[in-house]
Amino acid sequence: MDPVKLMKQEVGRAAAAQVQSGTVVGLGTGSTTAFAIQFIGDRLKSGELQDIKGVPTSFQASVLAKQHGIPLTTLDEVDTIHLAIDGADEVDPQFNLIKGGGAAHTREKIVDGLAEKFIVVVDSSKLVDKLGTTFALPVEVLPMAVAPVTRALTAMGGTVELRMGVKKDGPVITDQGNMVLDVKFAAIEDPAGMEQTINNIPGVLENGLFVGVATEVLVGEVKDGAASVRSL
Ligand code: 5RP
Repeated sequence: MDPVKLMKQEVGRAAAAQVQSGTVVGLGTGSTTAFAIQFIGDRLKSGELQDIKGVPTSFQASVLAKQHGIPLTTLDEVDTIHLAIDGADEVDPQFNLIKGGGAAHTREKIVDGLAEKFIVVVDSSKLVDKLGTTFALPVEVLPMAVAPVTRALTAMGGTVELRMGVKKDGPVITDQGNMVLDVKFAAIEDPAGMEQTINNIPGVLENGLFVGVATEVLVGEVKDGAASVRSL
């Protein structure tokens, strides 16, 4: 298996091992969390895990959970999420994140932010000293506000691109029916300040900065073909 896929698989397995019977689990989005969802399903099927309910962060998570036999619930029906498992595009040493590579950051921030414990699952390439250095910040925007929000983000020093679909002509449309602007900044020196400033632009629904939300980061690594997982 290719090393990145192997790292994702093992870190997903390690996160799934932390799920306990009788709990509500936030199910994140992305290729790493997909492995965690698969392994939670395997544990349910084997009987090792019982009475789990998942709160999906996207249509992707919902489809995968159904495929793997994980019963789903909604935030109308539960008032506690015991554990959320989700990926990230960048992780800084303070556990602040950039998310939204899969355009799911709005629902992810709701679910991950409500969880008593939020485990981030990443491969080692996602660790950065400062956010913004390798990944453009995703910003979900109401379609009618794309032009003014682009101007406002450009005035903040960002280089803005409307995210385009793959195997779909035209822009990516989020699970909420909005569009995504990917904004490349030089290093983000004040993630908390920038998160607030961007969300204050009229027309912005949510941006991908997750500040002070993660409680544990599981990092997958591969050395000499062997995968290992360390907890930060
Ligand atoms: C989706 C996300 C993903 O969690 C993030 O993009 C990481 O994905 P992957 O595990 O595929 O690298 O934020 O909106």
